[in-house]
Amino acid sequence: MSRSPVKAVIPAAGLGTRFLPATKALPKEMMPVVDKPAIQYVVEEAVDAGIDDILVIIGRNKNAISNHFDSVPELEVKLMEKGDERRLERVMASSDLADIHFVRQGEPKGLGHAVLRARAHVGDSSFAVLLGDDLIDERDVLLTTMIEAHERTGAAVIALMEVDPDSIHLYGAAVAEPTDEDQIVRVTGLVEKPAREEAPSNLAVIGRYVLPASVFDILERTEPGKGGEIQLTDALQELAADAAGPGVLGVVFGGRRYDTGDRVDYIKAIVQLATDRDDLGSELRPWLKEFAAGL
Ligand code: UTP
Repeated sequence: MSRSPVKAVIPAAGLGTRFLPATKALPKEMMPVVDKPAIQYVVEEAVDAGIDDILVIIGRNKNAISNHFDSVPELEVKLMEKGDERRLERVMASSDLADIHFVRQGEPKGLGHAVLRARAHVGDSSFAVLLGDDLIDERDVLLTTMIEAHERTGAAVIALMEVDPDSIHLYGAAVAEPTDEDQIVRVTGLVEKPAREEAPSNLAVIGRYVLPASVFDILERTEPGKGGEIQLTDALQELAADAAGPGVLGVVFGGRRYDTGDRVDYIKAIVQLATDRDDLGSELRPWLKEFAAGL
């Protein structure tokens, strides 16, 4: 069993109900954030962390995702004829990014069920899971720190973020103890979407995981939990409770993260990323200031 994750899994088969009707015919992972679909940022993040074998778990409306990562020769020829080098480069970049594979999740039975669909492709190596609607700003480091912690210890590594206690019911919450390392905690328990008064902490699980292949055996026998779905959190809870194993570590992330499956966070992501961009920021910033002044 190898501890170096060479493959990443991106679950993108959820229903995206918070974004209906936009997600009726389009997976939420394909919603544009400025001028790239959310999932492209996530694939780029995996590639930047050294992983270029990527399995996307797709549901209904799968074609939009697979088409995006395919090359479109007629579009490339048109841009070439027009001499539009810049756009040609951007169009080709999305199909040359990585070695991308797809597998279907017949029914959206939960994140744990989606991850289990990756078993045949991943085999017995450790692997990374990146949620396709969760963006980590490319200027902040997370996945690399998680991979290093996993390679060193063999533990399952999850990403945690401190959130307002009033919003902990939207996340999995961790029971955590400090370790010798600054950013890293030992996770001794997890509760999926707890009420504020039942939450063990305000450390929320966010969409990055580095997991040992042993999680697949646990997921095979994990019963549906909260919301009638097979929860990845329940399988991680079992790893955390196994005193004989390497357990679960959490990397506490203090950087910029956008949940593009949530409407307000989605809008924030677009504003933040567009204002920071060289080609758009100078035009957008003065308008934004004027707009905000009028609120
Ligand atoms: P979410 O809970 O955010 O996705 O799942 P959702 O169910 O699509 O969202 P809403 O609440 O209805 O708006 C987190 C990630 O797990 C994937 C989703 O696509 C998302 O990337 N997922 C979830 C699956 O792939 N399969 C599932 O059965 C559930």
